[in-house]
Amino acid sequence: MTLAQLKQKLHPFELTLKAHAFLEWPAMTRKEMRILKEVFLSFPSGKPINIFEYGMGFSTIYFAKFLHKNGRDFQMDSLDNNRFWYEKVTTMTRTAGLSKTVHLHLREFVPFWEKNGWDWKTEPRAGAFGPNEKAEQEYIHLPQNLNKTYDVIFVDARFRRRCLEAALKAVSPQGFVIMHDAQKPHYQSATKLYRYSQFIDSGKYFPFARRKYQLWLGSPANPLVDKVAAEFK
Ligand SMILES: C[S@@+](CC[C@H](N)C(=O)[O-])C[C@H]1O[C@@H](n2cnc3c(N)ncnc32)[C@H](O)[C@@H]1O
Repeated sequence: MTLAQLKQKLHPFELTLKAHAFLEWPAMTRKEMRILKEVFLSFPSGKPINIFEYGMGFSTIYFAKFLHKNGRDFQMDSLDNNRFWYEKVTTMTRTAGLSKTVHLHLREFVPFWEKNGWDWKTEPRAGAFGPNEKAEQEYIHLPQNLNKTYDVIFVDARFRRRCLEAALKAVSPQGFVIMHDAQKPHYQSATKLYRYSQFIDSGKYFPFARRKYQLWLGSPANPLVDKVAAEFK
């Protein structure tokens, strides 16, 4: 192992990610976990909550278990582009006895950083790494193509700006769309499509973290977005 690889392995971000994996927690801050829980609990019990997640992981199982524990009837569709994570979460779903409520989807394609010509140091030409492949388009538009209306759509993986645009066509008027890592400016133009739109500081992912993380909460017509944001200011 090179020194650079060792340094990356021991970076607090990576160590925190490992600790969360050990605890079977999502790859997010504790505050973000509380915000998502509050959004889920804002739905009255007795009526099924339809959830869609772009980017599966420990979040899929963690929030499904949370909803079960809190007596909420729900159905969750979760999507990934990466076979390893799809298979890992498939096993976790079966082990947790969640196969009747959690439905996993795979649209396989390589992430942008594995595409020819990608370079972390250079700003890419607009559209150069956009979604051109069939699987990439199917990934973005899956919520509409499943012909359901969703109460919550969580955007936490590839093509977030495009997913936010697509989510508007599949979320119910009173539903919520949530985007993780919303501090990144190139995701933000799509948030303007939503009548209610709030950026919330996520708190620290690990002690002494310098980067500011934000969660974005939006809805076509639900003013509760403003109330939740004020509560977590
Ligand atoms: C930020 S992760 C999404 C994580 C998931 N929503 C969660 O909070 O647990 C984005 C992508 O990385 C992969 N992934 C999922 N969980 C991961 C983890 N704990 N560590 C590294 N990569 C992960 C999946 O392919 C996923 O689409």
